[in-house]
Amino acid sequence: MSNTHDVKIAVIGGSGLYHLDNLEIVEEVNPETPWGFPSDKIIIAKMPSGTKIAFLARHGRGHYLTPTEVPQRANMAALKHLGVEAILAFSAVGSLREEIPPCDFVLPDQVIDRTRGSRPSTYFGEGLVAHAMFADPFHEGIADIVHKQAHVLEFGAKIHRKKTAICMEGPAFSTRAESHMYRSWGADIINMSALPEAKLARECEMAYQMVCMSTDYDCWREEEEAVTVETVMQNMVNNSTNAKTLLMAVLPELDQVVRSQTLKPDLKGSMKFSGMTAQE
Ligand code: ADE
Repeated sequence: MSNTHDVKIAVIGGSGLYHLDNLEIVEEVNPETPWGFPSDKIIIAKMPSGTKIAFLARHGRGHYLTPTEVPQRANMAALKHLGVEAILAFSAVGSLREEIPPCDFVLPDQVIDRTRGSRPSTYFGEGLVAHAMFADPFHEGIADIVHKQAHVLEFGAKIHRKKTAICMEGPAFSTRAESHMYRSWGADIINMSALPEAKLARECEMAYQMVCMSTDYDCWREEEEAVTVETVMQNMVNNSTNAKTLLMAVLPELDQVVRSQTLKPDLKGSMKFSGMTAQE
């Protein structure tokens, strides 16, 4: 696979965000990686400045992949192959906190893994041993840019920072007992997509920030009906309009920071000393 694209920023669209408006589509690519093909063709689009960005619908553009079925290793490898250095990953989430109502946005800084080990979550193994640093799973520098732009825009939805996400396996939603347990663990939002996406991005040395869009209160509020797909989809319509508005403000600033190599922390070379396998 040769990289001729010069695409440094990727946007991953979650439930409800299957394409970007207002950007000129230049081409669609479908790179085969050693881990297979990505979820769907990757759209290369041009910003008004001429900068190219990549867009990938995580569940496919017709939403035909469950969170468990998303080929996350292929997705991240394909983006790396295009030259991507920074990823904005959108995701619908349930809220585990009163202060995060549906249609608010959240920039998490932590994640708890409840995916049950059923998703291939590393490029290592089979004789190649390495341990990526993952204490801070999301990228503060990207979160800063998104947060700043949301305020410049006087963004319609409130945007929360420094929250903890929990990533569950699905596809069924949680039981009430689980929802209460996650709250007691300190989790603020819940989805099915943050992992292993964030881990694989880290192994690829790509800066990764999840931008979460609240769609429901999960099922911990006794007085309220438990989450349904209908509720999620209703709120996603509003959320995806807000996501596109926010993106148009974030992309130029993120592009400038990435191209001037001032995105901090800089993850390039971060895997250099993570290998344990002895070099003969
Ligand atoms: N995505 C959106 N809402 C969710 C919820 N309540 N649980 C898990 N994933 C979700």
